[in-house]
Amino acid sequence: MKTLISLLFIFVFLVGCQQKTKTFYSVKANVSNEVHPGKKLIETQCVICHSATASHDNRLAPPMIAVKKRYASSNTTKKQFIKDIQNWFDNPVEDNAKMYGAVKRFGVMPKLAITKENLNLISDYLYDNDIDQPEWFEKHYNEEKRKGFPMHKLKQS
Ligand code: HEC
Repeated sequence: MKTLISLLFIFVFLVGCQQKTKTFYSVKANVSNEVHPGKKLIETQCVICHSATASHDNRLAPPMIAVKKRYASSNTTKKQFIKDIQNWFDNPVEDNAKMYGAVKRFGVMPKLAITKENLNLISDYLYDNDIDQPEWFEKHYNEEKRKGFPMHKLKQS
């Protein structure tokens, strides 16, 4: 009888442990699967033009990494970055553009209907994360850098 009771105890204990382990794993899985909402918004609203995979010659707009690099230099604060992106969305006209070379090549970005809240999520994600870049980008960026970023300078008449 004693052994039966001990066996029962061990059984209950084992089942109890298993359940605990299970719960633990499912919680962990949820955390690691969570995607930043800004990432999703970029994928659905921006990447159609700001693609990270389109070739240099066959695209509708600069890749997102180029936009990020233009808006966030090494000493730009997150607050300033978010504000600058918001300013652009409030008033996307040529005179307000920082990417003159891109305006010349692609034309000015169309005004998009996006809430301030969603734009903040996008900027938050962009600022904090490494953004996918096309294969050609680094070489192109370094060449532009060597030339002193002529595309960033004010329009020449
Ligand atoms: C219909 C195509 C299209 C979509 C969609 C689009 N863009 Fe653009 N975007 C452009 C083009 C073209 C340019 C380059 C010309 C320019 O700077 O206006 C650009 C430039 C920009 C610039 C730099 C503006 C400047 O010159 O200072 C920012 C910032 C930007 N896009 C953010 C975004 C974000 C964030 C999204 C998604 C919410 C987005 N864009 C969606 C076409 C698009």
